[in-house]
Amino acid sequence: MVTEVKQRVDEAVAFVLGRRLWQPSVAIVLGSGLGNLADRVEHRASIPYSDIPHFCRTHANGHAGQLVTGYLSGVPIALLQGRAHRYEGLANHQASFPIECLHAMGARVLITTNAAGGLNTRFCAGDLMVIDSHIDFLWSRGLWGAETRLGQIAPARTPIYDWDLIQSAKSLARKSDITLHQGCYLATLGPTYETRSEYRMFRWMGADVVGMSTVPEVLAAQRLGMQVVAFSVITNVASTDVPQSTTHEEVVALGRAAGPRLLRIIEAMLDEQAGQPD
Ligand code: HPA
Repeated sequence: MVTEVKQRVDEAVAFVLGRRLWQPSVAIVLGSGLGNLADRVEHRASIPYSDIPHFCRTHANGHAGQLVTGYLSGVPIALLQGRAHRYEGLANHQASFPIECLHAMGARVLITTNAAGGLNTRFCAGDLMVIDSHIDFLWSRGLWGAETRLGQIAPARTPIYDWDLIQSAKSLARKSDITLHQGCYLATLGPTYETRSEYRMFRWMGADVVGMSTVPEVLAAQRLGMQVVAFSVITNVASTDVPQSTTHEEVVALGRAAGPRLLRIIEAMLDEQAGQPD
């Protein structure tokens, strides 16, 4: 299994580098509705996922499904414009395959973003949150990564989210007058949004937001030794008392509206990164 995955990663990376895409130091994943952040990339080169050997296609609306490389704030980045989800019928190691590839291309930092439903009663639709912990309802325990063998105990899961990057995101947000909450992301399998009772249960469990992605990627990145920072755009707030439904169109529209604020934080973090010695 390990050699098979490594071989697939090597084939995908050889293909991408053969197309003269830039080698990244930072990997960025753009979630639902956040794809237009890719427009800011300079010296941009892109390939559709469907062209890259072994890359999973994404069928989710609002996900362009292409790999973009170039420069943001002078830092070489690779950007996944859309992701594949567990609810598309994939295992964790398939959903996180692109992260393995970007790591093999040279990325040592992962900045990942998602759309999520707000559970914390202080949160409003359109707010941003930096993730400091998660609850894994994808049940990744036995599927910790392509390298997990039967009977092998996976290393401790903490810390996954880099404390220094969390602090830096918060301080940069404060300087730009952007509200940035900090809290816990709960990952569900989806593909449906939650019932009012489920929202109530997840809030009671201690989650601040709920979404359907991100955890497979951050677990892979942690295993690969990458520094990880993850952001949620709160696209809807859980309505536990009044019957009200969430639609994917609303989620994508709010993601688009909040995107520029999130981009400001990400660009400021990259500015800091550019100022650091190698
Ligand atoms: N639940 C799960 N995933 C989501 C939600 C939600 O309310 N909003 C955006 N992604």
